[in-house]
This record gives sequence, C-alpha cells and structure tokens, in this order.
Amino acid sequence: GAPVTVDISSLTEGQRITAEWRGQPIWIVKRSKAVLEALPGLDGTLRDPKSMNPDQQPKYAVNEFRSIKPEISVLVGLCTHLGCSPEMKAEIRPEPFDPEWKGGYFCPCHKSKFDMAGRVYQGVPAPTNLPVPPHHFADDNTLVIG
Ligand code: FES
Repeated sequence: GAPVTVDISSLTEGQRITAEWRGQPIWIVKRSKAVLEALPGLDGTLRDPKSMNPDQQPKYAVNEFRSIKPEISVLVGLCTHLGCSPEMKAEIRPEPFDPEWKGGYFCPCHKSKFDMAGRVYQGVPAPTNLPVPPHHFADDNTLVIG
C-alpha cells in the first residue's frame, strides 16, 4: 500500500489519533514526560523490554521509547495474540487490580497488557510487543506511515 500522511499538529499530550495503513489501525499517541519517565522502571516486568525481536519495529525504533521522537509513539493497534483491539488506559489500572500497572494498553479478549511503548508484559498470552510500523517525519507536524 501507499504511504499515509498524517497531520499531527493538533495532537495534544495524552491524546491518541488513529490512522489507517494497509488495513490496520495505526495509533499515534503523544506521551507525557511522566509517562516517558515511567518506562525504564518497567523493564523487569516485560517480555522484550529492549525490543530485541527485530520483526516488531524498524531499527530506528529500537530504543527506550520505541520511537523516533520520544513523546510521539506510533504503533499498530492490534493485539499480537489474536488481533483484538487493545484499549488505551494511560492512567487507570485494569481489573483485577495490578500493582505493577503503570498505564498502557489492555486487551480485553484475553487480558494481555502492554506499556505505553507497546511493550508486552510477562505472563500474558500476547507473545510480542506491538509492532511499530515503518514511518518518518516529513516535518515537525507531518508523520508519514509506510
Ligand atoms: Fe489480545 Fe488475546 S487477542 S489477549
């Protein structure tokens, strides 16, 4: 499919917009400083905290935030278990109460959990982190996916 261009000039902190690329939902989320600061502390509870699985992101997203710009996260919004649509729960905890939960994405189908970088937690059915699609910034406010 052709690349998709998204104007992100109106994206505010904590907000997500969804684009479509190759028939898949692409989430674009502007993360707060607090969210970014919480990510390194989660490493010990995640299956692939350092994004070692090369199939799940381009090389330029192999970093702490899995992104080009730290605050802007770009992810394929489909659970890596069986493809359900995870819910974004940036601040609240899913049920049952989980003291490790620092916000992220929760898949209601079989309770897989991902952090705000799309990194999968240990002990859930989803085998891998949410994919980061190929993308780049044409300018500060223009994201190109694909
Ligand atoms: Fe998401 Fe099964 S499809 S946990």
